[in-house]
Parts: sequence; C-alpha cells; structure tokens
Amino acid sequence: MTVGVLREIKPDEYRVSLLPTGADILTRKGHKVIVEKNAGLGSGFPNEQYEKYGAVIVDSAKEIFENAELILKVKEPLEQEYPYIKEDHIIFTFFHFAADRELTIKMAESRASCIAYETVQRDDMSLPILIPMSEIAGKMAVQAGAAFLEKVHGGRGILLSGVSGVEPAEVLIIGGGVVGTNAAFAASGLGARVTIIDNNLDHLRYLNSIMPNNVRTLMSTSYNIRDFLKTADLTVGAVLVPGAKTPKLITEPMLKLMKSGSVIVDVSIDQGGCIETSRPTTHHDPIFIKNEIVHYCVTNMPGAVPFTSTIALNNATFPYTLELCQMGFEKCVKSNPAIRRGINIYKGEITNKEVADAFALEYVSLDKLMKN
Ligand SMILES: NC(=O)c1ccc[n+]([C@@H]2O[C@H](COP(=O)([O-])OP(=O)(O)OC[C@H]3O[C@@H](n4cnc5c(N)ncnc54)[C@H](O)[C@@H]3O)[C@@H](O)[C@H]2O)c1
Repeated sequence: MTVGVLREIKPDEYRVSLLPTGADILTRKGHKVIVEKNAGLGSGFPNEQYEKYGAVIVDSAKEIFENAELILKVKEPLEQEYPYIKEDHIIFTFFHFAADRELTIKMAESRASCIAYETVQRDDMSLPILIPMSEIAGKMAVQAGAAFLEKVHGGRGILLSGVSGVEPAEVLIIGGGVVGTNAAFAASGLGARVTIIDNNLDHLRYLNSIMPNNVRTLMSTSYNIRDFLKTADLTVGAVLVPGAKTPKLITEPMLKLMKSGSVIVDVSIDQGGCIETSRPTTHHDPIFIKNEIVHYCVTNMPGAVPFTSTIALNNATFPYTLELCQMGFEKCVKSNPAIRRGINIYKGEITNKEVADAFALEYVSLDKLMKN
C-alpha cells in the first residue's frame, strides 16, 4: 500500500502522524511511504530521518493526495484540503465530526473511507488513540489553568497550591475519565483541593480508591455542578459521550454563580464543549473572557507539546496503521472491531450513529455497506 503523511496545516499544530521508525517498519514490509516535506520538523523529525528509513519526501500535499491510498494525518482536514480528498482514499486522523457539520458533509460527498482516531474503540469500550492525547491534555489543563488564574492574564490572581498560612485553590473537574483523572493528579499534586464530578458511579468508586486525600468525588447532577461552581477557582470540562456532541452541563446563566476571574478550561471543546459559552480557541489566542470568567478552549492542546505528543500518538496509532497496510482496508475492518468502530464515513454514508444524530442526517450501518 502507498501511505501518505501530510504536514499539518491547522494553526499551531506541530505533530506528525508517522515517525521515521514507523516508515522503517512499513517500507521493510514492502509498502511505500511518502512524506510531505517538513511534516515531522515541528516534532523534531527532519526530512533526512524519514529518507534514511526508506520514505520518499515530496514537496506538496497535492502529491500525497494524488499518490497515496492511506492518508495519515493528525487533525481533521481543513477546507483547502477538501477538494483533494477522493473516493479511493482511506483517511486516518482525528475528525471530531460531531462538532463540524460542514466537514461531515464534505467528507461524505468525497466518498472517502474516514477512520476517526477518536472512535477507534476496543471491546472494553476504551478509546486507545484518544487515551494518550487525553493524558497530555489533562495534565496541560492544570498547567494552563494555573497560568490563566494569574492576574495579568485576567484571572483571579490565585496560586493553585496556596502557601503556608494561605488556602490552596479549589479545582472542579467535570468528567473523571482520562482527561479528568490526569487533571486531578496534576492539580492535587500541586496541593489544590480537587472535586471530580462524573455520572458513572462505579468509576467514581474506582477514583475514590486511587486518588489522594485532597480529591473528593461526586455524582454528576445539576445541583452538584451548580453548588461546586460557586467555590471553584479552576473548572476543567472533561466530559465525553463517545462520538456524540458533548452535553452542555454548564449553561450561560450558571456562569453568574462563579467567582469573577475564575478560569474554565474546556478540554472537551473538540467535541463541542460541555460549557454553553465555550467556543474553539487556538494556542496563539487561547482565551476569551465572558461574564468575567476566563475561558480556555484550545481544541488541540497536545499540539503545543509535539515532542511528547507525537510519540505518544504514534505509540497508539501505528499498530492500526500497520494492520491496515498489511491486511488491506476491507479485510482489516472485518477482522478488527476496534478499527470498524472507527469508521465514521464510508461510501458516502455516515456510519457512526452519534455523528448522524448530531446533525439529524441519515445513519447507515456499516454492515449494510460492507458484505461479510
Ligand atoms: N482539547 C483537546 O486538545 C483535547 C485533547 C484530548 C481529549 N480531548 C477531549 O476531552 C474529552 C474527554 O476525553 P477523555 O479521554 O477523558 O474521555 P473519557 O471517556 O475517558 O472520559 C469522559 C468522562 O465523562 C464522563 N461523563 C459522561 N457524561 C457525563 C456527565 N453528564 N456528567 C459528568 N461526567 C460525564 C464519563 O463517565 C467519563 O468518565 C473528550 O471530548 C476528548 O475529545 C480534548
């Protein structure tokens, strides 16, 4: 198979979807790897390293789209890439379709096979490609929150850890999955008082057993969220309903309950965000202030630490990339349910129910489109 590796064009996105060592394995197995010039540079992998490991460097994205069957990316295709995407392409990347109607429609029109990193799901319901990015985003949520709580950035001017004789900050984490757990460890490690709110009681039980004493767990109810918003200095939005648009658990009127200058880091913004007032921001312009609350809503947080996140991402994606190349698309999809669940668009149809429901579009089961 010919595998194409695109250079990311989303602002401030420096990750790359294949490491030189991945190119090495693929080319040794007889596949062709073409890499867009400087695709790996932002993560510390120059063109020469790819060439050394058997890849061919090409000058433009156009050459990748024209020659590769399997297109590897990190973030969703942007408008200028839409015209190049065709029926015979398999696109393997983060799509986050449920947050973007136009992308969904354009990809369906292209008839390409779209495998979304974020919905590749194992039988135990875990999301193996999202996990490493969520680990990073969870830790970064606390770093970012701490920075934007500083007065010069519009925050309350409070130090998360407190100091001798001065109270630490209150951190509220809504959604206690991978992002939430990592944020809780980071915030509690700094000495903040942390509350995790989730709607899965078994999971809350588990969190309660592993978290330090300065972390408490609470059931997700509107009452509890309202109550804890009143005292929170930093609120982290970390809710996920896989594939679906995130429910708005904090509405605009609820911001009035919050302390002026407190900070919201809505990590779940890539799926639409769990705060009504959230809107996507970038690393260059990461915050906005609404109702005296600082909102940080960067959609690609791990993009800021590409040296860490590229390797973490590739650790998770490469086994699937290799399987797709070795078995071919149809055979791989039939034999690997995790990849099958990753297919959101196939033959022009939306094959992920949550994505179709998000836009009231027609859902067609993959079973109907793909004969066994
Ligand atoms: N902005 C970024 O750069 C970035 C990076 C990584 C992940 N994310 C996003 O962060 C979000 C969380 O990811 P994750 O890997 O932690 O997911 P996860 O599945 O591990 O955790 C989500 C948690 O939300 C909980 N939840 C669901 N509905 C809830 C509700 N009504 N109230 C409270 N909790 C509820 C679930 O029980 C689960 O524990 C996702 O939207 C993901 O796409 C964003």
